[in-house]
Amino acid sequence: MPIEPRDMDNLVALDSDPEVMRFINGGVANSREDYEAELLPRMLAFRHQPYGYLKALSSVGTADTQVFVGWFHLRPSYFEEGSLELGYRLQRRVWGQGLATEGGKALVAHAFEVLKAPIVDACALADNLGSIRVMEKCGLRFAEECKHPRASVVVQRYICKPEA
Ligand SMILES: CC(C)(COP(=O)(O)OP(=O)(O)OC[C@H]1O[C@@H](n2cnc3c(N)ncnc32)[C@H](O)[C@@H]1OP(=O)(O)O)[C@@H](O)C(=O)NCCC(=O)NCCS
Repeated sequence: MPIEPRDMDNLVALDSDPEVMRFINGGVANSREDYEAELLPRMLAFRHQPYGYLKALSSVGTADTQVFVGWFHLRPSYFEEGSLELGYRLQRRVWGQGLATEGGKALVAHAFEVLKAPIVDACALADNLGSIRVMEKCGLRFAEECKHPRASVVVQRYICKPEA
């Protein structure tokens, strides 16, 4: 399900955990003001596309009610026109249960089978070993170490192409 304006509280709470933000920006929380001014509009910009930012929902905590545990994205790649970039950010309490791998695999399959993307890529800081492991488990392979066009940090870029 796509991220909506009413997810604001959950997004701010997610980014308030320094461990979640550790390999994004060194552990700094994104504030509500950051979300209002820039981050939420950026997420919502893809609402009318067949990709974008999707909430991760889980029945963790209560038996029947699905709760927000993070998000995934498929968005236009910063590196290759027409290609899509996979991303994910989950609450710490659900780490290590295979959720990122499950969601990431589903989005890679969607990108190739439905959206006919030529390449799916993903980027992480070199020491974000958990994220890199998820990329590998989703079928992405190391492509290059390079400066990220937007974040101006050196990242490991992984890519995947559709099976011939
Ligand atoms: C990265 C993240 C999405 C992974 O979510 P997750 O649901 O725990 O991932 P999964 O359970 O599907 O898989 C994690 C894999 O990484 C491995 N892993 C986790 N931390 C690791 C580490 N420090 N070193 C090596 N491997 C690690 C796990 O063992 C597992 O691999 P395995 O199944 O072969 O054992 C989650 O930790 C997160 O949201 N982190 C904060 C945000 C973030 O860094 N996003 C990515 C930005 S590039």
